[in-house]
Amino acid sequence: MADEELTFDLREMQGKDIDAVMAIDRRAGLFPWSRSSFEQELSNPIAGYFIFTATNQNDQTAVPIGFAGQWYVAGEAQLMKIAIDPDFQGRHLGHLLLDAMIKQAQVHDCASMILEVRTDNEPALNLYRNFNFNTLDVREHYYPNGADAYIMELVFPKKIGDQN
Ligand SMILES: CC(C)(COP(=O)(O)OP(=O)(O)OC[C@H]1O[C@@H](n2cnc3c(N)ncnc32)[C@H](O)[C@@H]1OP(=O)(O)O)[C@@H](O)C(=O)NCCC(=O)NCCS
Repeated sequence: MADEELTFDLREMQGKDIDAVMAIDRRAGLFPWSRSSFEQELSNPIAGYFIFTATNQNDQTAVPIGFAGQWYVAGEAQLMKIAIDPDFQGRHLGHLLLDAMIKQAQVHDCASMILEVRTDNEPALNLYRNFNFNTLDVREHYYPNGADAYIMELVFPKKIGDQN
């Protein structure tokens, strides 16, 4: 479907979204989480999880096409998951979703975002580099399959009027 026929929206994830989110998580192909992991995250007071939907202008049906979640810890957002359904990847929707997560982090008074990413995950690395994330560290054999991870950080630009 052409992008001009779709509108994209972000809303807080709810329990009823878990089936759709698990399907995207599996299709996106990285280490998928169990239902209980998502349930725990939705009741975690320091976590914010969001679902990204595409609405068809013709029939107004909203279809989940991505999701992301982060923790807000001591003024820092820790991005736990971000995924776009493979049918919708490569259309800068990951960019829109990450931008929305950064705005949410700022609403929660975070000054920076930190994440880990596989060193061979080119789409994700391109996404983060486009936002000027810096690589802080490399963790060897970080993932269960032995893959290495980069730890990346983005310090948010200070808003005009911020004293600190
Ligand atoms: C990472 C992910 C969320 C990006 O979403 P997306 O909608 O495809 O991203 P965008 O379209 O905004 O593209 C991001 C950048 O990666 C590039 N890119 C997209 N697909 C790519 C590919 N297969 N190989 C290399 N670069 C790619 C895009 O060109 C873009 O860079 P550009 O703006 O300089 O052109 C998505 O690929 C995904 O869900 N992957 C599986 C889950 C995952 O890896 N999550 C991150 C875990 S840390």
